[in-house]
Amino acid sequence: MVIAIDGPAGSGKGTVTELLAKELNFTKIDTGAMYRAITWEVIQKKVSLEDIEKIKEILCNSKIEFQKERVFLNQREITNEIRTKEVSNLVSQVSHIVEVRNAMVKLQREMGENRDIIMEGRDIGTNVFPNAEVKIYLDASPEERARRRYEQNLEKGISTTYEEVLENVKFRDHNDKTSNVGPLRIAEDAVIVDSTDLTIEEVVETIKKIVEKKEKKENAKC
Ligand code: DC
Repeated sequence: MVIAIDGPAGSGKGTVTELLAKELNFTKIDTGAMYRAITWEVIQKKVSLEDIEKIKEILCNSKIEFQKERVFLNQREITNEIRTKEVSNLVSQVSHIVEVRNAMVKLQREMGENRDIIMEGRDIGTNVFPNAEVKIYLDASPEERARRRYEQNLEKGISTTYEEVLENVKFRDHNDKTSNVGPLRIAEDAVIVDSTDLTIEEVVETIKKIVEKKEKKENAKC
């Protein structure tokens, strides 16, 4: 089974996906972290976003791996590095480069082969796995999403102001929704879950019920 969780930055996808993956015993894949890893490498190598040949070279030479919550690029751990302001400010643009999108989507489809996965991102239900058995569009108001990101940053010791985070959230929303490449859209058959006034536990329970209902339907077919 593929569970696709799409939604804007800070809608709670990460936490919800992690909890659901543990409860359902599914493999969790954070596709935003993959775009962040490539962005981090672009920054390290000081490559211009116009230099497509160099970007292609980075794509060919970058092996992204997950070990539970940890992210590795060519065996170097970059779990914290991919959450910095520099990466957050550039990742939306990098993720909308056609060559980057194509390479990541291919990798994401391979990662989902022959296993139960829960994959979070922006275009999972619409593009990566259009036949996913369960599609959730997780939403929340921009202010609430910025508040959550700001608190996460504080916990991680990343220094930002709430206003900066809100500005970044709105900037990325705009970029993500208006892009020609892998835009953030609600799949026709997705269930919209608005988490603005829900606790994480309530969101997890809501999605679990949707998954269970789907499982029952699938079993009834056999
Ligand atoms: O979920 P996140 O904030 O870590 O994602 C980082 C960026 O990557 C975000 O600006 C949008 C982009 N992204 C995307 O375009 N498609 C995905 N499937 C996942 C993330």
